[in-house]
Amino acid sequence: MKKIVFFYAAAMLGLSIPTQAQNKLIVNADQGKTLISKHIYGHFSEHLGHCIYGGYWVGEGSSIPNTRGIRNDVVKALKDISIPNLRWPGGCFADEYHWQDGIGPRAQRPKMVNTHWGGVVEDNSFGTHEFLDLCEQLGCEPYICGNLGSGTVEEMSKWVEYITFDGESPMANLRKQNGREKPWKVKFWGVGNENWGCGGNMTADFYADQYRRYATYCRNYGDNRLVKIAGGPNADDYNWSETLMKNVGNQMQAMSLHYYAVTNWNKKGSATQFNEADYFTTMDKAIFMDELVTKHSTIMDKYDPRKRIALMPDEWGTWWDVEPGTNPGFLYQQNTMRDAILAAVTLNVFNAHADRVKMANIAQTVNVLQAVILTDNEKMLLTPTYWTFYLYKVHQDATLLPISFSCNKYELNGRSMDAVSVSASKDASGKIHITLVNIDPNKEQSIDAILRGFTGKSVSGKILTSANIADHNTFDKPNTVALKDFKGAKLSKDALTVQLPSKSVVLLEID
Ligand code: AHR
Repeated sequence: MKKIVFFYAAAMLGLSIPTQAQNKLIVNADQGKTLISKHIYGHFSEHLGHCIYGGYWVGEGSSIPNTRGIRNDVVKALKDISIPNLRWPGGCFADEYHWQDGIGPRAQRPKMVNTHWGGVVEDNSFGTHEFLDLCEQLGCEPYICGNLGSGTVEEMSKWVEYITFDGESPMANLRKQNGREKPWKVKFWGVGNENWGCGGNMTADFYADQYRRYATYCRNYGDNRLVKIAGGPNADDYNWSETLMKNVGNQMQAMSLHYYAVTNWNKKGSATQFNEADYFTTMDKAIFMDELVTKHSTIMDKYDPRKRIALMPDEWGTWWDVEPGTNPGFLYQQNTMRDAILAAVTLNVFNAHADRVKMANIAQTVNVLQAVILTDNEKMLLTPTYWTFYLYKVHQDATLLPISFSCNKYELNGRSMDAVSVSASKDASGKIHITLVNIDPNKEQSIDAILRGFTGKSVSGKILTSANIADHNTFDKPNTVALKDFKGAKLSKDALTVQLPSKSVVLLEID
């Protein structure tokens, strides 16, 4: 009884309770063969709320420091996490967007209503040139999603020509008139978005036919090779994947997957006010990503055993009620340690499936949903999720190391899940990186690991944790949740022991 009271009291005080070492990890350091595509660490930005306007774009005349209208602070923060690609202009917005409205002199661009997101006026001041300038400033690959839902084949085809054709043609000439002589390189091209829903409410069969038609006219100009991405399933709609794999097959280079960790779409819950049962359910939803990716991959394997077609979860993350007092159509939410842990678990899942998952995009970069950055006029803060991406950048283009792992359970109200999530990779210089997540908000975990086939000289680490899982950063207190050095790992040749604090994300570097 005394023991129970102690554990209960410690948990209430937010103290870590040590557990016995039942977490056994083997990292097969000499057996890696799959590259973790850097594009798994991609982002998504839509014309939604203050993602584009206020988030990236402040205009050239703004007092907020900017380069050609794009905020310098946001660009720097995203470069610091090595953002590999950026998906734009939506989302649902993409299937209502007419790209020709967003080129030419800004003052002359037509306005439109953003029907999906708050019914606000979109003045098209951020268009193709501005987006591609943003990507150049970020040093990342652009990922453009074309309008299949309400556009035409001709419109999409001309957009590709406008951006990528080097020579004499009506669209290339128009681009030059608008100030860009040389074409851009754009590899990633989405052929519609959520065409089972906001992108046209289509059946899988109908979309598959439409995809083939649209994709036919998205041409490869010069050496610009498009990776055409079909609008894939909504979460566990396995019939959608099956139909696309059967009817589209190798006419697509990738299929997207959309999944948000939401329990009840009518009552999503507060981003910052939640109890442990809510937390548990969210973690359960995060881990479900593994089942989704596994099952969609199994379907893909049937038609594409050589894994030439990639699975790209190009919208994922948390989706809470908007912050009180903000426009419900703007999807502005806070971001806590819970979000950071969910991101870490999800990224470990994508790494584990790196043979099929070649890109992923968290929704959305700035001021919308599970943002890594929040802005308030000239102020900017980095959310806990940002720090997860900061820690995980070491996995970009590193070799996935196969692991075998058995671990303790995190238990609550008769339910349980693995308490720890792990991923390991070896980078080009031979260093090993291990990312560990202790999902359990109450108990520390002791981990005994063997780095099979590797003799390590030193280990260093960084940790993201906080006193409470609901801790978050505000404009007044922007560093409540921040990275610290981690001293809880000990290495002796190939043997590693780790004391992993509760509710933490840890990166270890071993060389
Ligand atoms: O990310 C917000 C919205 O979620 C996107 O516009 C849409 O694709 C999805 O339903």
